[in-house]
Amino acid sequence: MAISKTKKFYIETYGCQMNVADSEVIATVLTDNQLQQTKAIESADIILINTCAIRDHAEQRIYGRLDYFNSLKKKNPNIKIGIVGCMAERLKDKLLDKKPFIDLIAGPDAYRHLPAMFSSMEAGQKVVNVLLQKEETYEGILPTRYDSNGISAFISITRGCDNMCAYCVVPFTRGRERSRLPEDILKEIDAVKNSGFKEVTLIGQNVDKYRFTDENRTVDFPALLEMVATHIPDMRVRFSTSYPQDFSEKVVQVMKKYPNICRYIHLPVQSGSNKILDLMKRGYTREWYLDRIAMIRKYLPDCAISTDIIAGFCDETEADHHDTLELMKQVKFDFAYMFKYSERPGTFAAKRYQDNVPEAIKKKRLNEIIELQTRLSLESNEKDIGKTFEVLVEGISKKSADKYFGRNSQNKVIVFPKGSAQIGDFVPVKVTNVSSATLIGEVV
Ligand code: SAH
Ligand code: SF4
Ligand code: F3S
Repeated sequence: MAISKTKKFYIETYGCQMNVADSEVIATVLTDNQLQQTKAIESADIILINTCAIRDHAEQRIYGRLDYFNSLKKKNPNIKIGIVGCMAERLKDKLLDKKPFIDLIAGPDAYRHLPAMFSSMEAGQKVVNVLLQKEETYEGILPTRYDSNGISAFISITRGCDNMCAYCVVPFTRGRERSRLPEDILKEIDAVKNSGFKEVTLIGQNVDKYRFTDENRTVDFPALLEMVATHIPDMRVRFSTSYPQDFSEKVVQVMKKYPNICRYIHLPVQSGSNKILDLMKRGYTREWYLDRIAMIRKYLPDCAISTDIIAGFCDETEADHHDTLELMKQVKFDFAYMFKYSERPGTFAAKRYQDNVPEAIKKKRLNEIIELQTRLSLESNEKDIGKTFEVLVEGISKKSADKYFGRNSQNKVIVFPKGSAQIGDFVPVKVTNVSSATLIGEVV
């Protein structure tokens, strides 16, 4: 039985930028098969949720949403519910035991098969496809930017991850690392450029491992970055995430050469303790990390640096925690994403270590980390008072209708009175005031 073409699908996205990009791939695959996308959940025949499995908390939120979808299904039994993405991949058909009302389960490499899966689902079957593919990069699919601000687009350049950090579920949910064809990436960039976008962010779990090889050539990440920067000289280029062990001087040299590559590097450190970094299997030391920071500062003194930190990993002592705080003070991160360690079943840490830092201690350490980072962010922002930055206007400020918000090259958010600027413009904004989270300024 073929799928009815008048069906409307709705998709909700959780997790990282990769999932945002993947939901755009899913929307393209489905609309190419004549299904209609709706942004109103009440009018949907098929509700999809693109999920994250990175921490237990992320999964609990998704269970909550699934229960809400089920309440809609109880009112309208024709509704079908599909779970896709990392949590679908991690739990597979075990999800049917927990939430028997789910109709479809698809992992991150199964999205080309969604139309066929929908047909079986329409016929009343429960459908599951969680096969991970070594080759799938969704070549030839031009994602529809259905939920973006029209200014800034995420372009995925790699899929999967081969790093196997001891705590991390991503290698299990996303499979092996693979790089997209450079020309496919450029084609996608041309498409967003032609629709008026002003900024692209090249994304991957470890962009430094990007490597495309065929008979004639090898394109590594610095080469790809240069290709992209020269291809769109009037647009901004960002990238994320960089990996300390693989992050090379060549990347920074390319950044220095092209002013349209933003002065911002996200370089997750996770911990400041060598003992913990070793247990985490991150493959670098505190000294190595600090040396990378010194290298960045040497070439790009105006570059902002942000990081990710995990508090309370297995066997973390007060002294290890102290090492993290000291490293943060030494680097003076401009921004950080901070988390409590959450054990993920199946990972190396879950199998071999004890999750032995009590919850209350994890919480206390996380709070200390957040408190310190709030101070460091404020200090970093205070240094910007009086400076003028080129800001890309992204939209209207949530707090005030007569103000815009945008970002400078350093990825800091700046709020300023609208004046005659338009969304999508690059405008010079002078910083007059700051908080730990935002810069406040005026167009000059
Ligand atoms: N590929 C990126 C980050 C991927 S996940 C990198 O290697 O840096 C984003 C962040 O979530 C990680 O940097 C880490 O800080 C956090 N994270 C991953 N697994 C976690 C876990 N089990 N518990 C708590 N935080 C975790
Ligand atoms: Fe996870 Fe490590 Fe891969 Fe990042 S690099 S996605 S933390 S395994
Ligand atoms: Fe979450 Fe998967 Fe991204 S686990 S962080 S959505 S790669």
